[in-house]
Amino acid sequence: MKLAPSILSADFANLQRDIELVEKGGADYIHVDVMDGQFVPNITLGPNVVQAIRPVTKLPLDVHLMIVNPENYITDFAKAGSDIITVHAESTPHIHRAVQMINDLGVKSGVVINPGTPVSAIQHVLSIVDQVLVMTVNPGFGGQSFIEETVVKIAELDLLRQENGYHYAIEVDGGIVPETAKICKEAGADVFVAGSYIYASENPIHQINQLKEALS
Ligand code: DX5
Ligand code: ZN
Repeated sequence: MKLAPSILSADFANLQRDIELVEKGGADYIHVDVMDGQFVPNITLGPNVVQAIRPVTKLPLDVHLMIVNPENYITDFAKAGSDIITVHAESTPHIHRAVQMINDLGVKSGVVINPGTPVSAIQHVLSIVDQVLVMTVNPGFGGQSFIEETVVKIAELDLLRQENGYHYAIEVDGGIVPETAKICKEAGADVFVAGSYIYASENPIHQINQLKEALS
């Protein structure tokens, strides 16, 4: 089980402090949400911010690209120090090429599907990715409610992994709190992203412990 706090809900004027805080609190990854105002109706940050936070933590940077034509920026995000780069199946007509680019750069690759996208859309890249991210909310904003209908896709991906000997981890992102984390874990998820549950609290370390307890 890995816990990946999303800095989308951190204090952007104090990113270093907020990253160090969750690292000390037992986080496994730092989840970085990149939004371009086109693929999703929100704008966040680019490779320069990834580069700036790289020396601040030893934890892997799990970079979630919510941008159109991610192929144009994959090299920049790799050079900036990303450890995992995840691309949306819906964001490019060339998802296989995008994943291949990430693999060729020696970075761990991820593919992600929105709540309305079926697992079949990524069927032909499952053998070449390190991580599959199942969005459990519609991407764009922190603090939204978990969408139950997505859970069946976690179970489907877990079964496909067992049947075919694939090695990907299954990550979930959106509306993750102890109860929903537990539901996802039971369906087969391994990596849990949580933004507002951790950072919107007065005591993020307590929140991390609550999530860990629910997943133990
Ligand atoms: C949503 C982002 C998430 C977001 C999750 O588009 O991909 O990573 O930070 O936030 P919470 O945990 O608040 O739903
Ligand atoms: Zn995310």
